[in-house]
Amino acid sequence: MAISEQTLESMRDIVTRYPQSRSALLPMLHLVQSAEGEVTPEGIAACADMLGISKAEVTGVSTFYTMYKRKPVGEHHIGVCVNTLCGLLGGDAVYEALSERLGVGHNEPIADGKFSLERIECQAACTHAPVMTVDWEFMDDVTPSSAVDVVDRLARGERVESTRGPAIRNFQASEHTLAFPDDGLAGEGNSVDDKMLAGLRYAKEHNMAAPQSGQEA
Ligand code: FES
Repeated sequence: MAISEQTLESMRDIVTRYPQSRSALLPMLHLVQSAEGEVTPEGIAACADMLGISKAEVTGVSTFYTMYKRKPVGEHHIGVCVNTLCGLLGGDAVYEALSERLGVGHNEPIADGKFSLERIECQAACTHAPVMTVDWEFMDDVTPSSAVDVVDRLARGERVESTRGPAIRNFQASEHTLAFPDDGLAGEGNSVDDKMLAGLRYAKEHNMAAPQSGQEA
């Protein structure tokens, strides 16, 4: 489907933010996903035309980063971290429970297009492992049953709060935020908690500091 004039206008707006236009490619691809639900061939062509680079270069970027999807994602993207800490604390069991509930495996959209499921890498959120993401918003300290409950509530159209961010919207809305971060939601939901600050507290108590530039650690 052709990229709309409104989306093209927003792409031009993103390009103006960067001294070197090709630096705009990552948010432009998120914008394409917010409008199209995936990175389409037309979206790739539009990015290439606007930035004066080849479609092969845009395709290379969109296939390198796993946040860019080359097939429809569905209304909600569910990510389950199965890296070391989350895996050890139950991430694999969470993934299996969700896969059974949704009847879908890794990166396979379900028949009604509502949910996609993906095993994801470490989200730098290990303090609250195991974690899952819903449309890239965090759900911390999940269990197989709490993860399935989140999906059930979303399927019923209920409001679901992320554990350190705003209420869940949908995949395309979150993708728009990745293109235009000033979405007015930064103050919503919980942010840093005591557990996340434990390392900083320990460092202060022991007078630890990062080495100055050029010093050995
Ligand atoms: S291992 Fe899952 S967030 Fe780090």
